[in-house]
Amino acid sequence: MSSNQLRVTGARRPLRGSVTVAGDKSIGHRAIMAGALAAGTVTVRGPGGGEDNRRTLEALRALGVVIEERGPGELVIHGVGLDGLRAPGALIDCGNSGTSIRLLAGLLASRPFTSELSGDGSLNGRPMRRVADPLTRMGARIEGATGARAGELYPPLRVTGPASGRLTGIDHTSKVASAQVKSAILLAGLGADGPTRVREPGPSRDHTERMLAYLGAPIRVDGGLSELDPTGWDRRLEPRPLEVPGDISAAAFPLVAALVVEGSELTVREVGVNPTRTGLLDALAAMGADVVCGAERVVCGEPVADVRARAGKLRALTLGGELVVRAIDELPILAVAAAFADGVTTIRDAEELRVKESDRIATTTRELRRFGVEIEERPDGMVIHGGSARVRGPLRCESEGDHRIAMACAVAALAAAGEHSVDIADAGNIATSFPQFVAVMRALGAEVDWR
Ligand code: S3P
Repeated sequence: MSSNQLRVTGARRPLRGSVTVAGDKSIGHRAIMAGALAAGTVTVRGPGGGEDNRRTLEALRALGVVIEERGPGELVIHGVGLDGLRAPGALIDCGNSGTSIRLLAGLLASRPFTSELSGDGSLNGRPMRRVADPLTRMGARIEGATGARAGELYPPLRVTGPASGRLTGIDHTSKVASAQVKSAILLAGLGADGPTRVREPGPSRDHTERMLAYLGAPIRVDGGLSELDPTGWDRRLEPRPLEVPGDISAAAFPLVAALVVEGSELTVREVGVNPTRTGLLDALAAMGADVVCGAERVVCGEPVADVRARAGKLRALTLGGELVVRAIDELPILAVAAAFADGVTTIRDAEELRVKESDRIATTTRELRRFGVEIEERPDGMVIHGGSARVRGPLRCESEGDHRIAMACAVAALAAAGEHSVDIADAGNIATSFPQFVAVMRALGAEVDWR
């Protein structure tokens, strides 16, 4: 990447071809953490190489784990076992990555030393009480900073485990459906006596449960309940090889681009299609989109498929409830699809978008308006009038350093810019999740580049 600004030119050329995308960011974090805690050496194939995963990798190195990088997308992790992490010599920088800081807080909660976790401006403004409170109840000491909201807790976090190295299992009912909260508690549960149970109001992604089960941990899922019960377990995670599928949250951008740029047809191969992540595909199907999954198989406990998308007419839909949870990271790009659909799309129950890498209700609304889209902001979502997107002159978008907003703007530009060029400022953070974005879009025929 040579610059922080993206330019889309020569828009509306059909996108065609077959590509792979970055490895799944969520699974990548979990593979690195689980590999580090395994009772032996674990090879991990296919992590995306994005900056967020790298933050987790460097954090584990700082905690004494030896991790070799064997060419692009292959790691050899010398697991130290559940009690083997060592005190870090310095503050751990989680960069832009909410998953790194929240899951590491859980991982470190039982360790009998103090770790300090911090991040960039965006991450240091994100709420941490949702993990700090349950981890405190389990017996850890979590200190943080004050910030925008009274009573909330923000990074930097100081996490100190009990001298015994053992927490107490808890029964936690989460107010928000959040895989980061659930995973932090379950990872802490690996260092707890007695069962740890997490209940949630909606089906958040279950990659932690699938991976721990794959490595032999006594974990079970029953509806909205995830339970880790170490009673009688030898506290060993088996050092089995792990494979990370393509990230559906990255695939979402070329797939939606194919739907809204006339004449396009493309396939994204080897995409993770875990049902807790496929809300986007279900929403697009309800919009009448031509999106088909083929070659379905299961890899390391995770379903994987090749996903093909073809341009065509889209219709509006109303989106809320569990579908929103299963599409949470895809709502900005879904809003782009809605902008090109017939009719008025309503997205509700999505207040969690306000505490992501940016306030994504505000940033999506503001950026789509630049494309001439009639869109209303609601406290918990958006109302998007389809068919109104049009660019009338050179345009500049502001992504506020939010990777998914930058990529959503690029896709909107591919469909709406016509003869004009669209610049997207502050887009360098695309590298946090999908460093190959520009190369992949160019391989499909899009005229997009750094400048
Ligand atoms: C993630 C969970 C989600 C998601 C984030 C990744 C994870 O966050 O938005 O991009 O890997 O567990 P929440 O748990 O805050 O919903």
